[in-house]
Amino acid sequence: MSRYQPAPGRIDGHGLSIRLGQGREAFEAVQRLDFAVEPGEFVCILGPSGCGKSTLLGALAGHLVPSSGQLSVDGQAIAGPSPQRGMVFQHHTLLPWRSVLDNVAFGLKMQGLGKAERRQQAREMLQLVGLADFAERWPSQLSGGMQQRAEIARVLINRPRLLLMDEPFGALDAQTRSRMQELLLDIWARIRTTVVFVTHDIDEALFLADRILVMSPRPGRFIEDLRLDFARPRRASLLTSPEFTHLKRHCLALLRHEEGRELPRLTPLGLPATDHPSLRIAL
Ligand SMILES: Nc1ncnc2c1ncn2[C@@H]1O[C@H](COP(=O)(O)OP(=O)(O)OP(=O)(O)O)[C@@H](O)[C@H]1O
Ligand SMILES: [Mg+2]
Repeated sequence: MSRYQPAPGRIDGHGLSIRLGQGREAFEAVQRLDFAVEPGEFVCILGPSGCGKSTLLGALAGHLVPSSGQLSVDGQAIAGPSPQRGMVFQHHTLLPWRSVLDNVAFGLKMQGLGKAERRQQAREMLQLVGLADFAERWPSQLSGGMQQRAEIARVLINRPRLLLMDEPFGALDAQTRSRMQELLLDIWARIRTTVVFVTHDIDEALFLADRILVMSPRPGRFIEDLRLDFARPRRASLLTSPEFTHLKRHCLALLRHEEGRELPRLTPLGLPATDHPSLRIAL
């Protein structure tokens, strides 16, 4: 993409806690998070339902204010929502009365660009996500996977420093989901913006990420910072490799650790360190 010149953002979180709820009902959804994400990195946040993943992403988007600690992008404290921090949710937010092209171009309208320029850039974005032939359709005429592709184009047209994704493929069938994961990696290989991708699916996190930050159940804390060096480009065959299975077992054990089970050590040999019962669950 010749025009796509993003400046990938760096994220720093120090002692970050976020309280939700009111008065006596208030509680800390995430607690004392210390982390950094390098520019251009693809990081997955993995954790059980309710652990605070969406809460953390909401703070990165600028929708939620930390109750203590700091959260900054490129050294600037996050002070509110910005197109520089684009969010993709499980369900698209395309406007049903606009064509796919006009939905994607909409962000540029807000920036005051002329119609011809907006449409030209929107066409380039649709090409990036493989939807060039669907520009004039209504969102309702697209499949679920295509709607999410249009949603990604709609966010990327703003050249975000951060691409924030909250279980973006969670509503898709398994095959479409797998194709979307590959497509996202292909897009990211071309644009290299910083991605923070939330999921509770271990396979998805392992397939996509450079790093996985694993969260404990509520209140969410980071219990592991797992670096992945699977070669890229990644294809579906990775999911059945011994290295992948080894790390999957490790992640499963981590997520079960808080249920009171002993945590197995990660060995370099592709074998679990213990024969702990938590590893015997079906893989
Ligand atoms: N506005 C709110 N007021 C009170 N509690 C909330 C609010 N939003 C979320 N919660 C609670 O805060 C906790 C963290 O929620 P959050 O949505 O961040 O979790 P999550 O990890 O994204 O879960 P899931 O995987 O189910 O999407 C949950 O226990 C949830 O019930
Ligand atoms: Mg969530």
